Amino acid sequence: MVDSPRDASSIALIRGDGIGPELIAATVQVLDAVAARHGFGLDYFDIDAGADTYRRTGTACSPQSLERMRTQADAILKGPVGLPDVRHPDGTEAGVLGGILRTGLDTYANIRSITLLPAVESSLRDPGPIDYVIVRENTEGLYASRGNGVGNRWAVSDTMIITREGTLRVVRRAFELARGRGGAPSDGVRRVTCVDKSNVLRSFALFRDIFTEVSVEYPDIEVEYLYSDAAAQALVLRPSTFDVLVMENFVGDMLSDLGGATVGGIAMCPSGNLGDHAAYFEPVHGSAPELAGRGSANPIGQILCAGMMLTYLGRPQAGAALQAAVRAALVKGTVRLRADGSAVDGAEGLARAVIDEVDAAPVPC
Ligand code: IPM
Ligand code: MN
Repeated sequence: MVDSPRDASSIALIRGDGIGPELIAATVQVLDAVAARHGFGLDYFDIDAGADTYRRTGTACSPQSLERMRTQADAILKGPVGLPDVRHPDGTEAGVLGGILRTGLDTYANIRSITLLPAVESSLRDPGPIDYVIVRENTEGLYASRGNGVGNRWAVSDTMIITREGTLRVVRRAFELARGRGGAPSDGVRRVTCVDKSNVLRSFALFRDIFTEVSVEYPDIEVEYLYSDAAAQALVLRPSTFDVLVMENFVGDMLSDLGGATVGGIAMCPSGNLGDHAAYFEPVHGSAPELAGRGSANPIGQILCAGMMLTYLGRPQAGAALQAAVRAALVKGTVRLRADGSAVDGAEGLARAVIDEVDAAPVPC
């Protein structure tokens, strides 16, 4: 069955900084090819946001832009943003959008897929299959202190906030996600792992208590508890045993980069920031300004974001086809990556190889 036809979805594009514009241009080509093949339309509009925007206008994303995304976009496809020299006087980066978009759109669940794709070399000696999802809480935790730290030049304090409501909703998302997956690669068991440091901090103990409370609603899903330090070790030693993991914001930021390192680098990792009324999709990596314009940016993470986005938009077949095209091109070797993860044929060349697979694949009718 083909995905059900309906009006063209409206996509806001944030092209971003550094390699961002190359990645988005390549990804839009892939999206257009998938849409044409599957018989639906996509409309795009640009949103000016990021470090360059901050430099030009004094704000990384205006309230008007945020409102436009909230009211006019069915989904947002965002490239990496940020430039190392664009900073607030306190030293924090001024061009990043995490605080503005995640809080502004209340996209509380950051879904970060860690998948070892075919023909991609892992940094682990004997990784086995890796296919898990980190659900990173996105609106509270330690990063709720973003812009709010208190102190002086001798001492500064940032406070971690864990709320009951904030934890309930993200943990439910994690269990729902696990229901729709096939379990961990090692044993096929649907499992949600709670990652926290509840042996030390009360905030994490609350997170764990709420996780346990929610888990009772999902008797079909196995639960596991890990402290965050032990989780870092386990993600290296036994990655195949993981299915879905849920954790606080800062811990999720750290462990998702660690996971990325085991599947060929964070350039391979897509993510979706999901709320109840909005969603935006962005690669986990940064804007790598030193690589911009050199014809070697790797758009795989960004392209896979587009696949997640299509599924979110109610086009799961098209999303799966896009993912399958990336896999097929990797297997055939038409997508060529260097050992450092960069793309031999640049973002556009890589996108062309993926589009060839999109065009060659049969579309079920
Ligand atoms: C990420 C990034 C952002 C974050 C930064 C750039 C604000 O590291 O999305 O993982 O901290 O969330
Ligand atoms: Mn990060």
